[in-house]
Amino acid sequence: MSRLVTGGCVLLFVLLLALLLSFHHAHAVGAHTGWSNDDIEVLRHLRLSNSALADKNRGNELLFRDDAIELGRRLFTDTGLSGSGQFACASCHRPEDGYQDTELITYRLNPKAAHRAPGLLGVALQDWFFWDGRADSLWSQALAVIEDPMELASNRSQAVRHLCTQYEKSFPALLRNCRALPKANKQDIDRLFVTLGKSLAAFETGLMPPATRFDLYVDALLAGKQDEAASLLDAKEVAGLKLFLDPMIGCINCHNGPMFSNSGFSAVATDAQGYPEHDRKRGVGLLLDSEFNCLKWGNPADCPKLQYVLTDGAETAGAYKVPSLRNLRHAPSYMHDGRYRNLEAVIEHYRNPATLPLRHVDIRPAALLPHQRKQLLSFLKVLGTDASNQEK
Ligand code: HEC
Ligand code: HEC
Repeated sequence: MSRLVTGGCVLLFVLLLALLLSFHHAHAVGAHTGWSNDDIEVLRHLRLSNSALADKNRGNELLFRDDAIELGRRLFTDTGLSGSGQFACASCHRPEDGYQDTELITYRLNPKAAHRAPGLLGVALQDWFFWDGRADSLWSQALAVIEDPMELASNRSQAVRHLCTQYEKSFPALLRNCRALPKANKQDIDRLFVTLGKSLAAFETGLMPPATRFDLYVDALLAGKQDEAASLLDAKEVAGLKLFLDPMIGCINCHNGPMFSNSGFSAVATDAQGYPEHDRKRGVGLLLDSEFNCLKWGNPADCPKLQYVLTDGAETAGAYKVPSLRNLRHAPSYMHDGRYRNLEAVIEHYRNPATLPLRHVDIRPAALLPHQRKQLLSFLKVLGTDASNQEK
């Protein structure tokens, strides 16, 4: 009997010791910073990284070809791609402004369909393109823009003719098929059109956001350099980061990963009531119809995301793509329709979202006190700031 008791005691002691050790371990990294190991793991996944680029752009065999990147760079500023000869990609995605539009109404050609032109830094790390995700690859996105009457308002045979007359001499390997152009059939034209899109995408893939003080902060934490970390973010910014990670506040549920987007679509009560919706419900239909989606123009093995895409259901109504939070520095406005002029207003939106009767909504009001809203704001600003710019 007494042997049994002693054995039980020893077992209890060993268990207690294990518990203590694991507790100590969980708190070791964050001992000075207040971060647990779980937090650090989340932070590690938020750090800027371009390691997924090749995987996310599997359908584009021109991705890392120097000639394609150079052709894409030149096409990006070429007004010859537009029907009117007046607009280039760079007219709305201004390189000096993080490749976004500084105009509030970005459908310059049709002010009625006002959608904000998102910045393109890090764009190739996304799974879906446009606010409604109606394109499943960066290259097919570019082709949609060229033929959309509300954007470049051109058509593929005009674009391909322009491509061949302007660029065939400088890019002979890439544009070999131009030789067939005089007698080209639809398939030849489509192939050259796809080369155009893939070259633009190859260029865009090189556009990455700069590392921010947040990224350096994570690096310092991971290296165990607490003092350096403390010099990178001030107390208010760290408090904002903690709120951002707090599951009860919710931001991290959708804005996660290196671009601060989960690549999904959510309804955050931003329906433009009274206007035609350009939400995910509509977008997914356009995507499946697109002749350049991955299943129709590509290798089905490259398109798992399209095979399992959510095609209908209440979740798609009023849902828009979860945008990156890394590229907000030059944004003239926020949300798909540019309804807010500053980040304070976005935070207020999450604190007190509009009630839309009978609409599906994915957020609950975030309980944020006035000083916490300021902390969250100061953290969001860090994400938009180049690390070399230490200004706070
Ligand atoms: C007339 C202004 C305009 C022009 C010109 C223009 N864009 Fe855009 N771009 C936009 C707007 C507005 C959106 C968002 C539209 C939407 O989501 O419905 C957008 C979206 C995009 C996106 C998707 C970004 C994302 O995060 O989903 C990419 C990529 C892009 N444009 C690249 C290009 C390229 C490449 C060209 C040239 C071939 C181009 N754009 C020309 C205004 C423009
Ligand atoms: C349920 C998912 C979800 C949650 C939770 C969420 N967001 Fe968003 N966020 C979105 C979506 C979707 C949009 C785009 C909505 C639109 O354009 O209509 C967005 C837009 C934004 C924008 C505007 C970005 C731009 O380019 O216009 C900011 C800033 C932002 N969210 C910050 C936050 C913060 C801070 C929190 C936490 C308080 C948060 N979000 C919580 C999904 C979410």
